[in-house]
Amino acid sequence: MARFPNRSSAPNRWYTITVLFLILRNIVMVRPEDGPHENTLGLIADDDIFAPLNDGCLRFAGGSKGASSFKVALFADLHFGENAWSDWGPQQDLNSVKVMSTILDIESPDFVVYLGDVITANNLPIHNASFYWDQAISPTRDRNIPWASLFGNHDDAPFEWPIDWFSSSGIPQILCSSAHDFGGDKCSFKGTTRLELMRDERRRNSLSYTGFGPRNLWPSVSNYVLTIVSPKSDSKSPVMLMYFLDSGGGSYPEVISTIQSEWFRNKSQKMNPDSSIPEIVFWHIPSQAYKNAAKKAAPRRAQCVGSMFEERVAAQEAEMGMMKLLKERPSVKAIFVGHNHGLDWCCPYEKMWLCYARHTGYGGYGNWARGARILEIIDEPFSLKSWIRMENGTLHSEVVLST
Ligand SMILES: *[C@@H]1O[C@H](CO)[C@@H](O)[C@H](O)[C@H]1NC(C)=O
Ligand SMILES: *[C@@H]1O[C@H](CO)[C@@H](O)[C@H](O)[C@H]1NC(C)=O
Ligand SMILES: *[C@@H]1O[C@H](CO)[C@@H](O)[C@H](O)[C@H]1NC(C)=O
Repeated sequence: MARFPNRSSAPNRWYTITVLFLILRNIVMVRPEDGPHENTLGLIADDDIFAPLNDGCLRFAGGSKGASSFKVALFADLHFGENAWSDWGPQQDLNSVKVMSTILDIESPDFVVYLGDVITANNLPIHNASFYWDQAISPTRDRNIPWASLFGNHDDAPFEWPIDWFSSSGIPQILCSSAHDFGGDKCSFKGTTRLELMRDERRRNSLSYTGFGPRNLWPSVSNYVLTIVSPKSDSKSPVMLMYFLDSGGGSYPEVISTIQSEWFRNKSQKMNPDSSIPEIVFWHIPSQAYKNAAKKAAPRRAQCVGSMFEERVAAQEAEMGMMKLLKERPSVKAIFVGHNHGLDWCCPYEKMWLCYARHTGYGGYGNWARGARILEIIDEPFSLKSWIRMENGTLHSEVVLST
């Protein structure tokens, strides 16, 4: 920071006032939480309205499939909406749709989890990022498969102007969400908030099981629980619970907060007081325990499967109690994260497994082959198996997570 001289002259003062005015105006303009959105959303974002569909109960298909199993595909780090002003970006989105379509057709899962960084929000020159979010969920919706999504750090990062826009070729044409909006608010460079993205997904999709967490967990939004029920069991004795958490990033720090941990403790004690129901947990950014697990496993590669050394673990900024709670629950079988595009390992940690998904999208950094982690849940006796299905159809890193 430059320091102002002691001697204050009139031009200097005006300069300071002008600069301050510009800074303040900028803050007002770029903060997506400001303005009318907060009020509108505040009024409608009631916990009950935003509880997941059907009380968050998912049922085994059974029937024609015969076998008593439930299969989940994890799509991680799709990064839709890169460089919309060039040919490259839209082509990556088409490629990502192809990856998802191929894997959905090979595996025919019962459910899909969008594990964050669905879009690259800091690369979207439109107000309505739901336009891209919608493209990302379309392969799943087109096949009539239900899904749930959670947020990654890139899903709400503010839009950044690329440096080459300041070159002689100038600023590209502004993209608007619809032709009528030209020149209006929806053509601005303002981002779309977490609340707006999630509200849009839920309002327009009857297959979406995505839930809003209670308001006291904001700014973290995607905190909710889904229950898997088999034909042999009912909602009072479910097969498995799936917890979804928002690990932050973008417009606020990359953490799972103390209040989120407390919410998890309350929820799990209420839904599974004696820890008799197996549980798994999803969020986007690996916790610091992933770093330790990788370090410990590295020399021996003990019991780990998958790609471990392509990248360093990029962990959350702090640990605020979530891992401690999970370690204390014997029912927690595994945690699944994305974020590191070059890693897809599973390693044992305490009494559970720490797992990465597999980078699914063509957007975002890195050129590692694309694929998806698949989970297979079997009832009576309970088992949880997982593997990676690649875009070219090959399968690897099969592992049993329920032991
Ligand atoms: C945002 O985009 C979605 C998907 O294209 C569209 O259905 C929705 O109406 C748009 N919302 C606004 C406020 O423009
Ligand atoms: C957890 O439960 C306690 C006791 O009922 C309550 O006081 C607290 O507000 C709850 N915390 C959260 C984050 O839900
Ligand atoms: C499929 O992709 C994987 C990962 O890139 C590669 O190792 C394998 O050789 C490919 N297999 C086929 C049959 O193309």
